[in-house]
Amino acid sequence: MSAQGQVAKKQGSDFLDLSDAGGDALAAMINEAQDRKAARVGLAKGSPDADLPLGGRVLAMIFEKNSTRTRVSFDIAMRQLGGTTLILDAATSQLGRGETIADTARVLSRMVDAIMIRTDDHAKIEEMARHATVPVINGLTDRSHPCQIVADLLTMIEHGKALPGMELAWFGDGNNVLHSLLEAAGLMKFNVRIATPAGYEPEPEFVAMARAGGAEVTLTQDPKQAASGADVLVTDTWVSMGQDNASAKLAAMDPFRVDTVMMSLAKPDAIFMHCLPAHVGDEVSEDVFEGPRSVVFDEAENRIHAQKSILQWCLGGVS
Ligand code: CP
Ligand code: NVA
Repeated sequence: MSAQGQVAKKQGSDFLDLSDAGGDALAAMINEAQDRKAARVGLAKGSPDADLPLGGRVLAMIFEKNSTRTRVSFDIAMRQLGGTTLILDAATSQLGRGETIADTARVLSRMVDAIMIRTDDHAKIEEMARHATVPVINGLTDRSHPCQIVADLLTMIEHGKALPGMELAWFGDGNNVLHSLLEAAGLMKFNVRIATPAGYEPEPEFVAMARAGGAEVTLTQDPKQAASGADVLVTDTWVSMGQDNASAKLAAMDPFRVDTVMMSLAKPDAIFMHCLPAHVGDEVSEDVFEGPRSVVFDEAENRIHAQKSILQWCLGGVS
């Protein structure tokens, strides 16, 4: 309790990483998303869900990096649940002029019911969560992207994949999205083959987390080894937001493109996934991206359905 009259107890829980929820809650979120998605068939996109579970609630979204999917999906998700949103960006808020995260967290906590933040340094969202008295949601940091992975797991299940024992292959950069996939692997018991150039492996702590949860994790510099017999092939941009567009990195990544050769090595019913935005011709060939095994736009749509579960979990509605 601070001298400034800070409220001592949070209304719900932070969603900074998938482990904040755990495997059971993650499974419940996916079920909830499937149910709500099914119940909306035929409804206009702007029509609310019948039960309006977040009626009267407000979500503030802070963007210190660009976004299309995360921004729109949280906004539409909140509207469909009966709530409203507002957006702050670094250019037009006092955050951009140096107001502290701690003060921003305490002010927003007096005005809104939850805060979603997309930023660079993961320590910033941890600081936001320490000072906020409302739930804080990680909308992507340099370290992780947990909201993306809730949508991705929903998409895999929709396309007939059973998560326990599934073989997921990752190609290219060992980045924030891979970190959250590894966290999910430990929670949901699927295996991950990671094909990266030397020096671009994921942070060891995420590999350890997956293994500690019972997932088999293979690190290789041979993309064909990763692709062989895989159920799901996943890649992402070779240059994440905030990283240098270094020619040496791009050259190192070139053999890790997901193309028809990689897809032909995978299981016949394997799917291709990418969180988007994509750089077609770099991390994925056009024929794979546009081909029948690509589920990237289902994955993008599922961001809405997943966000609804995350929001409800944070605000006490899904457990
Ligand atoms: N996948 C994803 O997070 O997309 P945006 O950067 O457009 O939000
Ligand atoms: N790894 C990418 C994901 C974008 C949604 C990035 O951080 O830019």
